Amino acid sequence: KRAQPVRPPIRVLITGAAGQIGYALSSLVGHGELLGKSQRVILHLLDVETATEPLNGLKLELIDSALPLLTDVIATTNPTEACTGVSIAIMVGGFPRKAHMERKDIMAMNGSIYSKHAYALEKYACKGCKVVVVANPANTNAVILSQCAPSIPRKNITCLTRLDHNRALGQVAAKLNIPVNVVKNVTIWGNHSSTQYPDVNHGCANGITIRNAIRDDNWLDNEFVSIVQQRGAAIIKARNLSSALSAASSVCDHIRDWVLGTPPGHWVSMGVISDGSYGVPEGLCYSFPVTCKDGDWNIVQGLDIDARSRQKMDDTARELEEERRLAQDYLQSL
Ligand code: LMR
Repeated sequence: KRAQPVRPPIRVLITGAAGQIGYALSSLVGHGELLGKSQRVILHLLDVETATEPLNGLKLELIDSALPLLTDVIATTNPTEACTGVSIAIMVGGFPRKAHMERKDIMAMNGSIYSKHAYALEKYACKGCKVVVVANPANTNAVILSQCAPSIPRKNITCLTRLDHNRALGQVAAKLNIPVNVVKNVTIWGNHSSTQYPDVNHGCANGITIRNAIRDDNWLDNEFVSIVQQRGAAIIKARNLSSALSAASSVCDHIRDWVLGTPPGHWVSMGVISDGSYGVPEGLCYSFPVTCKDGDWNIVQGLDIDARSRQKMDDTARELEEERRLAQDYLQSL
């Protein structure tokens, strides 16, 4: 029996909607992957004027998909119209990186977009709007956004590292030849960049620790870490385009778990503004292990951190501090 929609629709903004991630994501949202199978949504699709035609094309396709949960689609190039009344904002718009670039190389270009969109969200979104930044450098764009939209609670501004988290789960599952849903509690620490630290020390697979299940610390400490850190680049090399399907699917995982809660005994990774937990400098947008309940996330506390992990967590924090300095210079130049 199909679930019957009951609650009023929620307005969901996707920026950069005419791009590849937007194309995959808007369909997933319409199928209930973002907010559950009984929550109707109104999609606000924003893109730049040069993307007007594909943006309108996407709207036509969404109408043609006859998705019962999709109450309306607003396709616009006007940030005010796009941000008005939204409760969820998925910030995908930005210049994607190309081969041989690091994500921070596109900071200045995307910083200008993020400050503008932040002003529109600050003025026109619902108070309590939940924001996830996807465009790179995602962590630092989230910091820019939180500074330019001070009335949005800092706890509501996050960045996507669920993609890296899912990549880590996928690697462990493939290595053990087991279904991915029996692998849990890996952690991505730090930046959504090649310095991120995918940590399996507290994770399990089929009820036993990942280290005991895999029995190959050398692989876990080296190849696994580098596969996850470099996966975005590997996809750009393979597709000549950055990841889209997996990014869209992990955005849905990120928001759905945040809004509807993480399953008991599971944690996920989210880039959130640091409160100083695990010695991470306050105010950085840093990926932590979190559990979610009642629309709120909380950092999993008390995990043992060995010296090797500490070093890697500090290295990625240092990169984020450097990015934050670049962002401050950028904001001061406005
Ligand atoms: C990814 O991780 O796939 C995205 O952040 C795109 C990129 O630049 O790597």
